[in-house]
Amino acid sequence: MNDTPILHVDNLVTAFDTEQGLIRAVDGVSFDVRAGRTLGIVGESGCGKSVTALSIMRLLPKPHGHIEHGRIMFHDQDIATLPADRMHAIRGYGIAMIFQEPMTALNPVHKIDRQLGEVFELHFPEMDNARIREKSVALLKEVGISEARERMNAYPHQLSGGMRQRVMIAMALAGEPEILIADEPTTALDVTIQAQILDLMVKLQQKTGMAIIFITHALGVIAELCDDVLVMYAGTVAERAPVKTLFQHPRHPYTLGLLSAIPRLDNTPKTRLNTIRGMVPSLYELPDGCRFQNRCPYAMAGCSIAPPPLRQIDDNHWVSCYLYR
Ligand SMILES: Nc1ncnc2c1ncn2[C@@H]1O[C@H](COP(=O)(O)OP(=O)(O)OP(=O)(O)O)[C@@H](O)[C@H]1O
Ligand SMILES: [Mg+2]
Repeated sequence: MNDTPILHVDNLVTAFDTEQGLIRAVDGVSFDVRAGRTLGIVGESGCGKSVTALSIMRLLPKPHGHIEHGRIMFHDQDIATLPADRMHAIRGYGIAMIFQEPMTALNPVHKIDRQLGEVFELHFPEMDNARIREKSVALLKEVGISEARERMNAYPHQLSGGMRQRVMIAMALAGEPEILIADEPTTALDVTIQAQILDLMVKLQQKTGMAIIFITHALGVIAELCDDVLVMYAGTVAERAPVKTLFQHPRHPYTLGLLSAIPRLDNTPKTRLNTIRGMVPSLYELPDGCRFQNRCPYAMAGCSIAPPPLRQIDDNHWVSCYLYR
C-alpha cells in the first residue's frame, strides 16, 4: 500500500468571530490521512471535531467562521487557500462528507432521484439521464436500500432515519471520493442499523480503497474501525497514535480518562463507569498552559505556564503532555 498521505493537515487554526469575541475552535491541529486507511477523530462534545471536518470541506459557516492559519494539503493543493470554484470540484469526487444530521445534506423539497442525480451530473457531466438513473438505483441498492427503484420517487421525509442516512451515504459516494469524512454517521440510529451502516462503509472502503475520517464520541467503535486515532481536547490534539498503540499504551491523561469511561461487558453490574471529573473549559476563558489541567489527576505546577507541545514519544505516537518530556 502506498503510504504517502493523500491529506496532510498542518497546524490548522479555525476561528469564529462571535458576539462575545473571537474563539479558536480548532487551534493547531495536525494529522495525516492515507489511502485505504481510516483515521478516527474522538473527543467530547465541543472539542472541534466537526469544525475540523468543515474546515477540510471549506464549508464553515460564513461570514464568521474562517481558517486563520495552517495548511490542508490534498495531494499538492492547499485546500485552506484554494479559490471557491476549485474547491467545488474537490468536494464530492475528491473529498465527500456524511454530516452529523442527514437533513443538513438532503433537500426536503426534492425527491431522492433528483438529489442523487445532481451529484452524478456534477461529477460525470458526460452521463446521460438514463445512465444516471441506472447508476443511482445501483448505488441505492449498494447502500442497502430495498426497493431502490421505488425509493427514487420518495421525498426525504417519507424515509426512515436509517434510510435517510443511507441516501446521504449514497450521495457522498456517488462522486467516488478519495476521502470520505463521516461525522458521527450513526448516533441518531438504532444499534442494529448503526452496525449495518458501519459494515457498509468498511465494505465500500475495501472495494474502492478510499480513505475514511471517522468522527465519533465512541472509543469502542474506533477500536473496531480505525487504523489511526486522533484524540482531540478543547480544539487541540491531546494524542495521536495507531489504534493498537492507543488502546494498549495510552499516554495522555485525557485518553486514559476516555478509555476508563468505556462500558465493558465483563463489568460487574454494580461497578460504576468512570467519568472524567470536571468540565471542558470554555473557549472564551481558556487557561494559560495545558487546557486539560483543571481535570487532570496528574497536573503539576508547570502545566499552567505554557501549553505542552505535541511530542513524538514512539513510532507514529504523539502526545501533548508534560508527563512525557
Ligand atoms: N457557527 C459557530 N459559531 C460559533 N462557534 C461555533 C460554531 N460552530 C461551532 N462552534 C464552536 O466550536 C467548538 C467546536 O464545535 P464542534 O461542532 O466542532 O464540536 P464537536 O467536537 O463536533 O462536538 P459534538 O461531538 O457535539 O458534535 C464549540 O465550542 C462550538 O461552540
Ligand atoms: Mg460534531
